[in-house]
Amino acid sequence: MLWFGFLTLLPFAAAATVLPRQTACNNSPDLCAKSYGEITHLGAHDSPFVRDASTGYSTAGNQYFNTTVQLDAGVRLVSGQIHKQNNQWHLCHSSCQLLDAGTLSAWLSEIKTWLDSNKNDVVTLLLVNSDGASASDLDAQFKAANIVNYAYTPSSQTSAPSSWPTLQELINKGTRLMTFVASLDASQNTVAPYLMDEFTYIWENPYDVTTASNFSCNPDRPPNLKNDISSALASNRLPFMNHFLYQTVLSIEYPNSSYASTTNAPSGGLGNLGDAAAKCKQAYGRQPTFILVDFFDKGPAIKTVDNLNGVTNAVGRTDLTAATQTSSGSTYSNVFKGLVTLVQKAQLGSNPSMGEWVWAGGDWGSLLGGGITL
Ligand SMILES: *[C@@H]1O[C@H](CO)[C@@H](O)[C@H](O)[C@H]1NC(C)=O
Ligand SMILES: *[C@@H]1O[C@H](CO)[C@@H](O)[C@H](O)[C@H]1NC(C)=O
Ligand SMILES: *[C@@H]1O[C@H](CO)[C@@H](O)[C@H](O)[C@H]1NC(C)=O
Repeated sequence: MLWFGFLTLLPFAAAATVLPRQTACNNSPDLCAKSYGEITHLGAHDSPFVRDASTGYSTAGNQYFNTTVQLDAGVRLVSGQIHKQNNQWHLCHSSCQLLDAGTLSAWLSEIKTWLDSNKNDVVTLLLVNSDGASASDLDAQFKAANIVNYAYTPSSQTSAPSSWPTLQELINKGTRLMTFVASLDASQNTVAPYLMDEFTYIWENPYDVTTASNFSCNPDRPPNLKNDISSALASNRLPFMNHFLYQTVLSIEYPNSSYASTTNAPSGGLGNLGDAAAKCKQAYGRQPTFILVDFFDKGPAIKTVDNLNGVTNAVGRTDLTAATQTSSGSTYSNVFKGLVTLVQKAQLGSNPSMGEWVWAGGDWGSLLGGGITL
């Protein structure tokens, strides 16, 4: 009886080992065979600029969690601004006086560490080249972080391809880092062809939105495609959907965090991401390739991305919905937070004293007059 029992069980045991093990690509087995450009990747706007204890809960922070935590939670596009500071390339928010998140190479090392331990994931990097770094300047930072081997190199540096490799192809080749730079002159870039000029491959909708009713699907950049959806699509560039909301104090714009749960929601409420993405998908006849949000854990924004990708079986992600950070109202260690408080006082009619201006970080007159966007 024992022998017979063993034989009856055998087919089941064998079947279980023979079945192909379903491997997830970017958190889902359903995405492996999809083209990189065809699916939607969740992007964290200003990934290194974090509103947490490390920055004194800076008002200039656009995310509550750092880049590693973003990637663990399913973000697959990380972005930041590069500025020149003391002859080094730093990630700073508008100005290194407002928020300096350290060197570009240190941030790239953090991403490299993540790629090392997440071998079935393709990550996109978007660098805003605020101070005109050259391809060799940037390449030196990538080399210092030892991340160049992960970088995907396009077949053409001067035009967008009609199709992109599948996630599985990128994973098999080990080229799991897609790097876009806004902007980088391709004709000057012979040293690092993996650095892709953003607007050669991508077009974006408007990013400077201050009213929840004002999100738009129309192309905004590059300028030659402004408001021209059909030319944008015909150019093979990938649609990039900015979806974050600013609030304004005098002429300073900073992230509207109090409304982020609605801005990033899959449905419900003016300006929610789910409805906006559905509208853009309808207008484009395809889903956007990238969706860029502030405070990505709110909403949660990943829900809309999963809906667009038809993903119902996501695996290997950290769920942050219960871990949401709140800012500490009592911490005033950050210069910019001080500035905003001061501007709020001025708006309410109580003139800030000279001492308070010094405390807030010096002469901000030019910034106030010129208007800044964070
Ligand atoms: C990111 O944040 C997590 C959680 O707060 C922390 O444990 C980790 O050390 C941080 N990583 C980096 C590279 O700052
Ligand atoms: C944030 O956005 C919401 C929706 O547009 C708006 O009602 C609210 O006043 C904004 N917050 C600030 C501080 O401007
Ligand atoms: C809405 O957007 C348009 C064009 O992008 C802009 O001209 C207008 O000032 C915006 N309106 C508000 C209320 O923000």
